Amino acid sequence: KNITLDVSKAVQFLKEGTVKNYEAKVKEAQEALENGTCPGNDFLGWLHLPSSITPEFLKEIQDCANTLRENCEAIVVAGIGGSYLGARAVIEALSNSFSWLIGDKSNPTILFAGNNIGEDYLYELTEYLKDKKFGVINISKSGTTTETALTFRLLKKQCEEQRGKEEAKKVIVAVTDATKGAARAAADKEGYKTFVIPDNVGGRFSVLTPVGLLPIACAGFDITKLVEGAADMEKACGKDVAYEENPAAVYAAVRNGLYDQAGKKIEIMVNYQPKLHFISEWWKQLFGESEGKDNKGIFPASCDFTTDLHSMGQWIQQGERSIYETVISVEEPAKKLLFPNDEENLDGLNFLAGKRVDEVNKMAELGTRLAHVDGGVPNIRISVPVLNEYYIGQLIYFFEKACGISGNILGVNPFNQPGVEAYKKNMFALLNKPGYEEDSKAIKERLAK
Ligand code: PA5
Repeated sequence: KNITLDVSKAVQFLKEGTVKNYEAKVKEAQEALENGTCPGNDFLGWLHLPSSITPEFLKEIQDCANTLRENCEAIVVAGIGGSYLGARAVIEALSNSFSWLIGDKSNPTILFAGNNIGEDYLYELTEYLKDKKFGVINISKSGTTTETALTFRLLKKQCEEQRGKEEAKKVIVAVTDATKGAARAAADKEGYKTFVIPDNVGGRFSVLTPVGLLPIACAGFDITKLVEGAADMEKACGKDVAYEENPAAVYAAVRNGLYDQAGKKIEIMVNYQPKLHFISEWWKQLFGESEGKDNKGIFPASCDFTTDLHSMGQWIQQGERSIYETVISVEEPAKKLLFPNDEENLDGLNFLAGKRVDEVNKMAELGTRLAHVDGGVPNIRISVPVLNEYYIGQLIYFFEKACGISGNILGVNPFNQPGVEAYKKNMFALLNKPGYEEDSKAIKERLAK
């Protein structure tokens, strides 16, 4: 069984035959990815990554995770963007919603940092870690990203002070480039365990490298199953699969059709399970950073339903008709909770007595789908049998492949992110970073005007 895609409530907003008409473009995009002839062809390492991961490599990651798990009450994963969101998305989707409060002794607490420069956040993190045996996974492909490097400096110092330099070396791991960058230099000098982020895998496509796999294994989840799911989806989205049976191909075609033909400039990723919040965050980066360039691209947004039906629901139902929704629907919850009968029935909810909570959720989903489609919002539905490592692996690869195809149809290079540099240049100039003297002078003159 695989995750499935239903576009029937989206194609009704398109001219007849639209999906079929995209077949040639999709095929061309797929061939360009396979043959390495598309823009950004030096970043195609993700394409056949799942099927090329060996059990030996997974064991090396698991062994390292086990060392961290045995020696740490808390593990801080330092990273940002593609070096952060995939791990968090998978860990949150699979974790107990209240794991923080439960105080789960069988797993270390996984914390994320290096993804912001909030002074309170970092102060409070270091406070929390004060009496904890903690370890650090420093993840940065370039090895020079300010947010992550700044956080790592603080954490390294604290870890060494609390555990001693030699002990700290056992619980600090670097995931970075094979040779370049400050993170690599520090790891080699200190003798940390390291994992390499392959040159040809960009940050937002790297969750199935040690960038995602190591933190996920540290959290106690099955990385073999995750990779297995991704590898099965790699087959299901392969270039020889019939076009209309290939979910990544169809999703890519429909979203481009909605954008080109129906003026749908915003895609809202929706879930009905709060633990999928970070899957949407990961997806937003994947599509946003890949497609938003050359003054083009669908804006990827997200909502958690039914929560946001009580906030954004109004806009979605009746605001500007520039949106469509993609819903990730989990068929079967992991836990079972029946709604109880109440003799007094003061809340008038006895009509739900004996039903599973999920039945109410599913009717909310169906009711919303009908209402939104009636309101002019096309609806794409991705059905996930259950939330486990295997199906999340499928979901990850499905979106990656769809993104590669979709970006190519759009006519952009989906694998670069030149626009991200603009803020960094200004920030470095404002902070008087050595090497930015000219920019510092120019930016200060500009601000003084
Ligand atoms: O997708 C990307 O390439 C980016 O989001 C990067 O992952 C992000 O900027 C972090 O970069 P690095 O891993 O070099 O610290």
